[in-house]
Amino acid sequence: MIIRNLNKNDREQVETFFAMMGEKSASFFNVNHGNEKRVMEFFENGKPDHEFFVLEQDAQLIALAFIWDLFSLVPKFGIAVRDDRQGQGVGKFFLTGLLDRFREQGYAGVLLTTAKTNVGAQKLYEACGFERLGVADNGEYCYIRRFEKA
Ligand SMILES: CC(C)(COP(=O)(O)OP(=O)(O)OC[C@H]1O[C@@H](n2cnc3c(N)ncnc32)[C@H](O)[C@@H]1OP(=O)(O)O)[C@@H](O)C(=O)NCCC(=O)NCCS
Repeated sequence: MIIRNLNKNDREQVETFFAMMGEKSASFFNVNHGNEKRVMEFFENGKPDHEFFVLEQDAQLIALAFIWDLFSLVPKFGIAVRDDRQGQGVGKFFLTGLLDRFREQGYAGVLLTTAKTNVGAQKLYEACGFERLGVADNGEYCYIRRFEKA
């Protein structure tokens, strides 16, 4: 599995990724098509305040992630694994690799929110060293992953 930045040639695969997403995943990751629109903006204008990542296996896009608020010390983060590849360690592999990158890029940590009912995501975040800070303004749990100073 290869972690790399999203590029302009990935458009078709990204469209398929969202088209294949079932209701449950979409209810956590793509409410009102919000994240789909976010990624499509990358193909339209490069979305310079975001950085997008894909996890690729056998030339197939199997997971997607991004950070935004790039000029903050602690950017915000989002992730989704293709439905048919969930629960197989893919999210953990991808997130672990991304956290290493973000640490090397000099960020102090990453922040995210997740639905209180999204137990799978909470397990993943806690397994990857995130701490639950409390409840955010949007009613979701807020998590932070701090990077220790070397
Ligand atoms: C949440 C998500 C990214 C997790 O990725 P994944 O590849 O399914 O997770 P993994 O298989 O790597 O599992 C990582 C850990 O979480 C646990 N876990 C994952 N899904 C779980 C579930 N539904 N219930 C209980 N535990 C779960 C695994 O047991 C594993 O724990 P371990 O490290 O102690 O063994 C993925 O399920 C997904 O894309 N869901 C839909 C979109 C979404 O919810 N995105 C996050 C929005 S905040």
